Amino acid sequence: MNTLLAPPHALAPAPDAVWALSGARAVRLRPIAAADASAEQAFFRSLSLDSRHKRFHVGLRELSPPLLKLLTEVDQRMHIAWVGEALEPALPVVADARYVREAEHPWRAEFAVAVADDWQGRGLGRRLIGHLAEHARLHGVQQLYGDVLADNRRMLALMRDQGARLTPHPDGPQLVRAVLDIAA
Ligand SMILES: CC(C)(COP(=O)(O)OP(=O)(O)OC[C@H]1O[C@@H](n2cnc3c(N)ncnc32)[C@H](O)[C@@H]1OP(=O)(O)O)[C@@H](O)C(=O)NCCC(=O)NCCS
Repeated sequence: MNTLLAPPHALAPAPDAVWALSGARAVRLRPIAAADASAEQAFFRSLSLDSRHKRFHVGLRELSPPLLKLLTEVDQRMHIAWVGEALEPALPVVADARYVREAEHPWRAEFAVAVADDWQGRGLGRRLIGHLAEHARLHGVQQLYGDVLADNRRMLALMRDQGARLTPHPDGPQLVRAVLDIAA
């Protein structure tokens, strides 16, 4: 099957993976849905300014209505996204992970992740990146890339550990492009 031409349901992320994390916490990973809009907004509002800045590269206070729609009303085909829902303690969204295929080159995709501040450092970010890479690879993506602020040492260390190439960014030294070659 040519996955680049597959119907939307064929690429829908596998639902309901449950991950046990350090500190007796657990997260269920599930595909994002339009109904998650208010929980997604609450998640982004709850992020520290530093985390929001690292995710969006600007200090957004909250997601604008168009951006919220863009992030939650995804086709799960070109734009594939999950939220991490906390089971213990119960919280609707404590993480967000996504990748977006390029329209012209659907074998290339840009990814982004964010983990709630209180949930960072428990291995969730590492698992999310691994999950994105595995899902993307299985669905025909050969290269995943993300733009990381040059001072985002945690993300750069994580990407280096995952085997990413860290390359200069055309927009200048404040950014680094992390490129994961994931062709089978
Ligand atoms: C970057 C981010 C996704 C990582 O998620 P996380 O759940 O904290 O990551 P993990 O717990 O899996 O840790 C991954 C690595 O980060 C580093 N790390 C974790 N906690 C750390 C801490 N407190 N201080 C420094 N480094 C740390 C370690 O290298 C760790 O590797 P290890 O598993 O060998 O210890 C998360 O910090 C985040 O959402 N940051 C804000 C948004 C952002 O930067 N997004 C990426 C934009 S491209």
